[in-house]
Amino acid sequence: HAAVDHAAMGHSMAPAAAKSGSGPSLPHGEPLPALQPLANQAAVAGQFSGRLRAAPVSVALWGDQRRTGFWAYNDSVPGPLLELWEGDEVELAFDNRLPQPTTIHWHGMPVPPAQDGNPHDPVPPGGSRHYRFRLPDDCAGSYWYHPHPHGHTAEQAYRGLAGAVIIRSKRDPLRHLPEKYLLLSDLKLDDNGQIAANDMADLHDGREGQFLLINGAWQPQIALARGERQRWRIWNASSSRIIKLALPAHELQLVGSDGGLLAAPRDIDSLLLSPGERAEVVVTGRFHAGKPAGLISQPYVRGKRMHAEQTQDETLASVVEHGMRPTLALPATLRDIAPLGIPGHRRRIVLSENMADARAPFLINGRSYDMHRIDGTGEVGRIEEWEVVADAHMDHPFHLHGTQFQVLARSVDGIWEDELFLAWRDVVNVPAGEMVRLRFVQALPGLRMYHCHILEHEDQGMMAQIDFLPR
Ligand code: C2O
Ligand code: CU
Ligand code: CU
Repeated sequence: HAAVDHAAMGHSMAPAAAKSGSGPSLPHGEPLPALQPLANQAAVAGQFSGRLRAAPVSVALWGDQRRTGFWAYNDSVPGPLLELWEGDEVELAFDNRLPQPTTIHWHGMPVPPAQDGNPHDPVPPGGSRHYRFRLPDDCAGSYWYHPHPHGHTAEQAYRGLAGAVIIRSKRDPLRHLPEKYLLLSDLKLDDNGQIAANDMADLHDGREGQFLLINGAWQPQIALARGERQRWRIWNASSSRIIKLALPAHELQLVGSDGGLLAAPRDIDSLLLSPGERAEVVVTGRFHAGKPAGLISQPYVRGKRMHAEQTQDETLASVVEHGMRPTLALPATLRDIAPLGIPGHRRRIVLSENMADARAPFLINGRSYDMHRIDGTGEVGRIEEWEVVADAHMDHPFHLHGTQFQVLARSVDGIWEDELFLAWRDVVNVPAGEMVRLRFVQALPGLRMYHCHILEHEDQGMMAQIDFLPR
């Protein structure tokens, strides 16, 4: 096993008690570790070429005596940050040094199916492959990559395999703002400080560990000046937590979703981020007295989880005051988003639970995922409208591969409410008993998965696939 130095996860402080009391504890309060970018080996502008290796690694979470075994990309938890540009030709050499087959899925990115790490294209243990794709000219946003092998996605992700991708645009209206990246991931340790296997409750409700990490660190410190405006990109890379984020002492504006910027900034009090989702926010340092200065997660009540009900605010990061800065301008408009028009095809996608059948407990339109069954066909370039229904006791965050969609409406207690603003997304939470209506177009032909992004549900069958045919 390679040894990760402390910088990779940044742990250097004395241990403090975890919320679980008796279990293992982690150091906290260190400065937010930066995501380490993957070096571009291409010498030519417009090209990115890099190397990713998935392998076991041991990390010193609390000093050198006891190391925790992870699976990681390039020995880093989370994996290296891929910084790409619109229009780039991308080539990634990949080596699988895990004891299981794996793939790399480019979550949210407009990548052809043959390069998208589908479960049909596993890289065997000891094997290698290249992923090659060209990015379109209008896809700037925050994406991520993670494994997608048949039946082992959850395990490989919770052992540490996930990394952030940023696709930049030369015409970015917010490029004058300093950026921070926050990749949220879940860590569940057993009493020996090793990564715990999923138990029955995890398999049902989705895995939730004792720790929610940000860039691999627990409760880190984020520096912000009074008056300063920062752009934060936030990834929810946890297996199953629906996280309601808030920054009560500061000003918060939502400026971007999964597929990049919104048309205009929106003032918000909190932000619900389900597993797989990303957001871009602009934070303005206000340090309002009497309010917690940190980044907190608030209880989210809709989905009924049995083993991990959060009842009070939890601190995810502290925000510490670093002097005073002038407040940079925030443009009133960010981007044009044209609404998708009249659909050429409509479908109803029903997510349901059937706990009586241990072999097929999570279903889409009554069926459990079968890699060798095609659940429908579509046409490239045709507008699809999908009504996604959670006929279920839990929330199920719905995700579609290969493109971005627009949410048109969501039901609240069964009554449709129009979506208030346009945004490009590839994950939308469908609360228990509710419905979401969305539209999209696939630009490339081939097989695309859609599934619940609670990875335990996906692995247990809440996934289906549709073949888009050229027209
Ligand atoms: Cu992020 Cu099919 O997944
Ligand atoms: Cu995906
Ligand atoms: Cu689910």
